[in-house]
Amino acid sequence: MAVSHQLRALLVAAALPLLLLSRADAGEIGVCYGRDASNLIDPPEVVKLLNANSITMVRIYDTDPTVLNALANTGIKVMVMLPNEDLASAGGDVRNATDWVKNNMVPYLNQGTLINSVAVGNEVFKKNSELTGMLVSAMQNVQTALANLNLADGIKVSTPIAFDALDVSFPPSDGRFKDSIAQSVMKPMIDFLVQTGSYLLVNLYPMYAAADPSTHISIEYATFRPNSGVLDGKTGIMYFSLFDAELDAVYAAISKVSGGSLRASLAQGDQMLVQVAESGYSSGITFGGPVVVEADADLNAIATIPNAKAYNNGLIRRVLSGSPGKHDVSAYIFSLFNENLKPGPATEGHFGLFYPNGQQVYEVNFQGGRSSCPTNASWCVANPNVDNAALQRALDWACNNGADCSAIQLGKACYEPNTLVAHASYAFNDYYQRKGQASGTCNFNGVAFIVYKPSPSICDPNPSWCVAKDSVGEAQLQNALDYACGSCADCSAIQRGAQCFNPDTKVAHATYAFNDYYQTAGRASGSCDFAGAATIVTQQPSAGEVGVCYRRDMNNLIEPLAVVNLLNSNDITIVRIDLRHQLDGVECIFQYKHQSHAMPNDDLASVGQDLGSSTNLVKNNVVLYLNQGTLINADPSSISIEYATFHDNGGVLDKNTYKTYFNLFDTDLDIVYAAINKVSGVSVLDVKATESRYP
Ligand SMILES: *[C@@H]1O[C@H](CO)[C@@H](O)[C@H](O)[C@H]1NC(C)=O
Ligand SMILES: *[C@@H]1O[C@H](CO)[C@@H](O)[C@H](O)[C@H]1NC(C)=O
Repeated sequence: MAVSHQLRALLVAAALPLLLLSRADAGEIGVCYGRDASNLIDPPEVVKLLNANSITMVRIYDTDPTVLNALANTGIKVMVMLPNEDLASAGGDVRNATDWVKNNMVPYLNQGTLINSVAVGNEVFKKNSELTGMLVSAMQNVQTALANLNLADGIKVSTPIAFDALDVSFPPSDGRFKDSIAQSVMKPMIDFLVQTGSYLLVNLYPMYAAADPSTHISIEYATFRPNSGVLDGKTGIMYFSLFDAELDAVYAAISKVSGGSLRASLAQGDQMLVQVAESGYSSGITFGGPVVVEADADLNAIATIPNAKAYNNGLIRRVLSGSPGKHDVSAYIFSLFNENLKPGPATEGHFGLFYPNGQQVYEVNFQGGRSSCPTNASWCVANPNVDNAALQRALDWACNNGADCSAIQLGKACYEPNTLVAHASYAFNDYYQRKGQASGTCNFNGVAFIVYKPSPSICDPNPSWCVAKDSVGEAQLQNALDYACGSCADCSAIQRGAQCFNPDTKVAHATYAFNDYYQTAGRASGSCDFAGAATIVTQQPSAGEVGVCYRRDMNNLIEPLAVVNLLNSNDITIVRIDLRHQLDGVECIFQYKHQSHAMPNDDLASVGQDLGSSTNLVKNNVVLYLNQGTLINADPSSISIEYATFHDNGGVLDKNTYKTYFNLFDTDLDIVYAAINKVSGVSVLDVKATESRYP
């Protein structure tokens, strides 16, 4: 792809420190670590789980010593809470607020727990309305206590309110607080928050509005899925998620009780005054026991894993990438775990991203989707829906006015596909790139348009790809993969269940993400580096290769030459045969076209024994072949037929790594890698499955 000289110079300058540049985060994602459960893993294990998922912010509902100790020196930011029970005391006397801070925050701050905010109560209007009058003075007293202890700079004071503090929320611009709290509580609270540089915390649960049939809210709109949008007729603002509509309703409510300068700054959108202290989605109603029948059948009906997965992944993308024309926001996902002692309806206990043992309930990408690319590369393609004469005229004009059309001449690399549209796309794009993607250079009397991903309809005479280097190891690949998916790469296709999820290996996923990044960035210089984890190739990569075992223990097979035809017609490029048959000429036939692997040792009796020599295998850079099909060392009770056959399933947790496996094939493969590592100390060795079967 020709990138103009100017652009190229710019790219070289910009792209070098690729991994050092952190993406301009719109907001930050945290999780709520609720503990209304009898069966949760211990806090130190929870910290491992948070780290394994790169979770950097957590909200807790108290100041529990075991939790705060476990979080010490982890770099994880913590929001603690002064419980509603202590509100009257803290609000009534600043000395009591000071005692609370000294007893419940200072010891943990001193030992390195990164407490960055304190929630004074939770949903006070809703849960303990008798304390409403005390709320703002409690916040002020906690602030005063922190200031007196020189702690106010790094710690924000706020209080999470429930969304029903608003009595009108649609259209969003009509959002307003209930009369009972608007002037008496919200106005002084907002003044306090602005003065102290803090933010209003809101708990947002679009799920509940969506469950009410009278609202006619579509599940797509409620869960960040593609939808046709909902218009605020008063402002002309179109909303594509209920989350944003609710958030803007809160901003509108704040604006109605606040003074002129704050109102003006809110209208310009340059204030990030609201943060979301809780938002989440329930994935079900049972704990594996009998179905709990609850009154709200509408709520139960939408509390499903697919909906919860769509909502929470959508929320992460929204927070990390921002949304055009909408306020940036940080949010804590409710909740980290399914909680079996949570009071209330059955859906309450199922907001968890994880089961109590740390296993994922469904896949969540804490890095969100695509956001910033190092370049704004674009391509020019022919519109296939215009008449041929116009296209031909534009093609001739492009070739006569600067486009290099030699590659689309007969016998040249881009002659095929020999269609007018393909040739026109080639010429238009060549012209457009030579003009430096300048505005107005992809028009050709309206027969062309710009795209922001390299189009397969533009022939590429010199293709190249960016692939992951297996040799750098899983940890480095994961870092680079996270970076790629968190910035320019569109990683939706490698999510579970999506088109390119399989093969489910780190190197395959990383190759997909790196290459998407590289191509989208217009193959700009430096865009295939990823701190040395990637390299450019000129042969189209594939993550793995699927071959077949060709056994001949029967008397009714077609002849070997016919088998070769069969393989060819099915695009099968590797085949495994048995050495016993080598002498009868089969081997020679396959050498003609197919790579063949003869393996006399058909049944590795024990992987462990054979692995004794794996150090030599590594030295000689040899591949270890593995017969897969027998299960090694697994707990049979955890194996479902879905898990064994690549169907959707609940996954199986490795408690040492907090990695959840969603298919047994990968589990077996990782067992072999772990075994190799134990006898050789080497983690990088290519393992191939020489047999894998299902009758
Ligand atoms: C402050 O704390 C003291 C000691 O616990 C208690 O007796 C008193 O009632 C508290 N003050 C208020 C206003 O609650
Ligand atoms: C990329 O270019 C397009 C077209 O000129 C423009 O609409 C878009 O805002 C640009 N994006 C960035 C990040 O510069």
